[in-house]
Amino acid sequence: MTVDTLHPVRVVQHGGLLPFVREWLTDRYAAPALADIDDPSGVVVVVVGGGAKVGATEMDALPNLGAIANFGVGYDNIDVVEATRRGIVVSNTPDVLTEAVADLAAFLVIDVLRGITAADRFVRSGAWGRGEKMPLTRDVRDAVVGVLGLGRIGTAAANRLEAFGAVIHYHSRNPKDVAWPYHATPTELAAASDVLLVLTPGGAGTEKIVDAAVLDALGPDGYLVNVARGSVLDENALIAALEEGRVAGAGLDVFANEPHVPEALLRRHDVVLLPHVGSATIQTREAMGRLVIDNVDLFLERRTLVTPVN
Ligand code: 8YV
Repeated sequence: MTVDTLHPVRVVQHGGLLPFVREWLTDRYAAPALADIDDPSGVVVVVVGGGAKVGATEMDALPNLGAIANFGVGYDNIDVVEATRRGIVVSNTPDVLTEAVADLAAFLVIDVLRGITAADRFVRSGAWGRGEKMPLTRDVRDAVVGVLGLGRIGTAAANRLEAFGAVIHYHSRNPKDVAWPYHATPTELAAASDVLLVLTPGGAGTEKIVDAAVLDALGPDGYLVNVARGSVLDENALIAALEEGRVAGAGLDVFANEPHVPEALLRRHDVVLLPHVGSATIQTREAMGRLVIDNVDLFLERRTLVTPVN
């Protein structure tokens, strides 16, 4: 389908956006999908969802692009350096999703320790009915949770887990003004942790920082929880560590090649696997959508953004 319009298209949609967000963009800006436009010369804003990539090639195709509005707090899908070089501004959706993602991060930590979803699988498999015993699990109280990436979401998740009695340690690029013990490297943090909770941004700076050495430091009684980006973890190193009993288990909301989850993980019972749902509540996704619209509005009116990243 191509879009035939009397007015040049100013706003386009790109990537997997939720139906209600698509509808808002269509109602407000008559914004078609990027793939459907014939004449890209009028496009000044692209709204990006589902982690769709916007690099130099996509920017080349939109000669008058002024803003990229990302539906999501993480913007590792966008080449921000290249955008800045071209004078293109980029926005994301911080703050409005902090609580929902922090909730999910805390739930995953509790789940790997207490085996909630594993217990659900145990009941459904008929094992309980056959008289089998669910293995004992681990207390959240006194567990050391090492937060890798103590930003807004990491801090909110740490506060939740502290309320359950967990002991928080952390590593970030720089020490923060908090009472929790700081570790200088991910490996040192992992060595001190019962659960390593990964909440760093994605992108080149954090690519595979959770590698075999970090997993070995976490050790055979340690659990890895990743609610950040699949790129932060060396997935093959995790699979090997699980298979060889060098870590106890994992909780993963994000994967290297979404929506594809390695077969080696799908068949394991010591991992909890979620389909990237950290921010996926009705309220949070609506708030993210409203923030995207606010950014587009402000850019169209005043060439500036509410939540710029560059
Ligand atoms: C979204 C996310 O699933 O905000 C982020 O960085 O990973 C999630 O909230 C994703 O961005 C949806 O497009």
